[in-house]
Amino acid sequence: MHTVVRHPLINHRVTLMRDQTTPPKLFRELVGEITEFLAFEALRDLNMRDVDVVTPVAKARGALVNEHVVLVPILRAGMGMMNAMLHVLPYAKVGVLGMQRNEATAEPMAYYAKVPPAKGGELAIVVDPMLATGGSACDAVAQLKSLGYKRIKFLNLISAPEGIAKFEREHPEVPVFTAVKDERLNSHFYIVPGLGDAGDRIFGTL
Ligand code: PRP
Ligand code: URA
Repeated sequence: MHTVVRHPLINHRVTLMRDQTTPPKLFRELVGEITEFLAFEALRDLNMRDVDVVTPVAKARGALVNEHVVLVPILRAGMGMMNAMLHVLPYAKVGVLGMQRNEATAEPMAYYAKVPPAKGGELAIVVDPMLATGGSACDAVAQLKSLGYKRIKFLNLISAPEGIAKFEREHPEVPVFTAVKDERLNSHFYIVPGLGDAGDRIFGTL
């Protein structure tokens, strides 16, 4: 279930983000803005509870979000999406998964994990800007499943067809929301045209 969230305001920002002359400050702002648009689409089915509210004019029937959400950024680049996610879900808990791709093989190596065990019913939202081979995202979701999470979504900015195919093979029930589906991977497992190394561009470490 891979949804490409198509919208002119997203396309505009993806174009600016791809530009190699975009500096880290603007790059981070664009990542955040696109993340909020993706969250808007991805969270349409949040559970709600009905409440009564009194306006200055009359009583009204309202609804409040009724979910236990755990946000799970994949280090490092996933951190770039976190301010935006916490902006729209300020009551969420945060777990962290550290993963680094092997530069030669693109195999992900897990180097850190601090995620609360599932108590039942929570919604875990994994965030990482890039879905390239799909190795990091697939391993992250597998770790969450092993901790007992049953409701999981994945939000990312740019997806390669190879990553989409792997994710759908390994986690077909996990919905993915992405801003754009790119052409392919190159021989170094980078997304083409992509935007380069998302972590380096967010943190200014090029
Ligand atoms: C990047 C990106 C993803 C991963 C995607 O992280 O943020 O986590 O690559 O590639 P994949 O789909 O082939 O696994 P990277 O390993 O470069 O680490 P960083 O975030 O610390 O820069
Ligand atoms: N990770 C990135 O940051 N960019 C890519 O193109 C692929 C993996």
